[in-house]
Amino acid sequence: MILSFSLLAAFIGCAAASPGDSVAMVVHEQRARPARGFVNIGPAPDGEQLHLRIALHSNDFAGLEDELYAVSDPSSPRYGQHLTQKQVARYIKPSDDSLAAVTSWLRQHEISAVPISPAGDILQIQITVSQANSLFNAQFSSFSHPDINGTTTRTLQYSLPANLSPHISYIHPATSFSTPFAMPKSRPAPTKRDGIDPSCADLTTISCVLAEYGIPTTPATQSSNVLGVSGFINQFANFLDLRDFLTQFRPDISPTTKFDVQLLDGGANTQVRQFAGTEASLDIQYTVGLAAGVPVRFISVGLLNNDDAGGFLDQINALINSTSRPTVLSTSYGFGEDDLTLPVAEGLCKANAQLGAMGTSVLLASGDGGVAGRSFDCTTFKPTAPSNCPWVTSVGGSQIILENFTKDNMSEIGASFSSGGFSNHFKTPRYQRRDVEQYIANLNGTYDGLYNPSGRGFPDVSAQSVNFEIIVNDQAYLVSGTSAAVPVFASVISFLNDELITAGRRPLGFLNPFLYSPIGRAALNDITVGRNPGCGTSGFSAGTGWDPVTGLGSPNYTRLRKAVGLRP
Ligand SMILES: *[C@@H]1O[C@H](CO)[C@@H](O)[C@H](O)[C@H]1NC(C)=O
Ligand SMILES: *[C@@H]1O[C@H](CO)[C@@H](O)[C@H](O)[C@H]1NC(C)=O
Ligand SMILES: *[C@@H]1O[C@H](CO)[C@@H](O)[C@H](O)[C@H]1NC(C)=O
Ligand SMILES: *[C@@H]1O[C@H](CO)[C@@H](O)[C@H](O)[C@H]1NC(C)=O
Ligand SMILES: *[C@@H]1O[C@H](CO)[C@@H](O)[C@H](O)[C@H]1NC(C)=O
Ligand SMILES: *[C@@H]1O[C@H](CO)[C@@H](O)[C@H](O)[C@H]1NC(C)=O
Repeated sequence: MILSFSLLAAFIGCAAASPGDSVAMVVHEQRARPARGFVNIGPAPDGEQLHLRIALHSNDFAGLEDELYAVSDPSSPRYGQHLTQKQVARYIKPSDDSLAAVTSWLRQHEISAVPISPAGDILQIQITVSQANSLFNAQFSSFSHPDINGTTTRTLQYSLPANLSPHISYIHPATSFSTPFAMPKSRPAPTKRDGIDPSCADLTTISCVLAEYGIPTTPATQSSNVLGVSGFINQFANFLDLRDFLTQFRPDISPTTKFDVQLLDGGANTQVRQFAGTEASLDIQYTVGLAAGVPVRFISVGLLNNDDAGGFLDQINALINSTSRPTVLSTSYGFGEDDLTLPVAEGLCKANAQLGAMGTSVLLASGDGGVAGRSFDCTTFKPTAPSNCPWVTSVGGSQIILENFTKDNMSEIGASFSSGGFSNHFKTPRYQRRDVEQYIANLNGTYDGLYNPSGRGFPDVSAQSVNFEIIVNDQAYLVSGTSAAVPVFASVISFLNDELITAGRRPLGFLNPFLYSPIGRAALNDITVGRNPGCGTSGFSAGTGWDPVTGLGSPNYTRLRKAVGLRP
């Protein structure tokens, strides 16, 4: 269930007093039932330790949003003049009143809190389930999910003292769930590959993608231009698999090329080859392999509290605080939009906006629909997160086909699983308003009531996503998914950044105002054929211009480098 602001407002005033306490409590967040797939198996053990984040409202997020557009819109005089972490913190830090109210409340309950975001807007406390139940009038319970090992501790409702509620955005983890992330579909690769014509319509390799989008093969040179690759849910990438992959598919670069590793929330760099994961192998092999010479950093985020959404938040905050921030972040994971409550979704999205304002391009998979198992199904036109956020770039999936294929026209259509649609959490941002209105007008009312016509439309762009050959634990596999498209688009942006930095320019940062500008969209290949899974026979179709299957289209490196003002 989605907790809308109007619903939230309705709860305020329905005050309840906690036993033995005269402070009026108000319900702060509530949902009718757990996210899809989770089953309540009873009260959580009283003594279980919870790491709860208390997020305070920023003093001026609207100010930061203005700054984000001022530095990200190519038509702005301040384009490229990204903010420092200190400048961002000025907008994001809570007001003195908020901080005082929360601090005094915590002191009164003898709870110590640690700021875990650089602006001090998120505090972390560690308390037991029984303390949390009494402090927040909550009922923390254990939930099981068929695809999650162990249990997830959540409550369907919690309250805050009436005087505190207006200062607090959310407590997490509490009422937000995150179901297992989208994973690419995989199957063993055909063993016979001699003589090759892996026509790129059947089998995607590094050389296919380099050719499809005209990605440079001369290595990049800027050592500060880091491409961050997210790793969640115990997905590890293996150095030996990468070595074998490069030997086979990228013989012109050193097979000993490695990726750096950054660990968070108990993340690990497990190099036991059997523990290599499909998603992590795909993401690492198609960034190191495509973005030759770009330093790639694998950011491994652990699963504290079975809390994927919290891991996303912690990751973004760690990068905001970092002095060696990636210029591009490639994240091939996500969840269903309505797993998260609106305040938590907004918190995560606003953290991404901060990263964008500092000059990092955040790219996220739009999600796979219509695929059985650990993916988003087609029960409704179900938006995905965090690619629903207007301040990130959502990447959908495309496919190369043989029909109409010529030497000069590779014939690219939307992949059958490429999710897209319109957010129920976030409004249509200005940069895509005309595209969204036009697309919806052309629907002539088809699907009315099944989607939010004033929501943020996604994806923004797309890239090849079908039958990528990868090596996992010494075996070849073919994988498909929008999670394959993200490292491709991320590599393209990293190469552009390398050239920009070499030319004394700033990296691209938050991409969408550029991509949706006339000059940006002209540098993309509009994909006009394809349909997303939707439900059964229905689903949004691709068409001329932006559409919620392939966005504005796939990259053309030559045109993009011209569009960002690089000289031939
Ligand atoms: C931010 O980084 C500094 C320097 O590395 C560190 O001391 C501090 O604890 C970090 N702050 C947060 C909130 O992570
Ligand atoms: C759960 O644990 C088992 C055994 O350790 C492992 O094989 C499986 O992959 C795990 N499942 C998930 C979803 O992590
Ligand atoms: C990119 O666009 C240019 C100009 O339209 C075109 O000549 C070139 O073939 C395209 N590159 C690729 C790889 O499609
Ligand atoms: C192939 O070309 C025909 C004729 O122009 C067109 O009708 C059809 O849609 C094209 N197929 C694809 C997949 O683009
Ligand atoms: C390339 O293929 C698309 C899709 O079939 C078609 O609409 C377009 O006219 C073709 N362009 C050229 C230059 O052949
Ligand atoms: C909507 O109507 C226009 C004009 O009649 C038509 O060209 C278009 O194909 C229709 N769109 C859909 C999705 O049916």
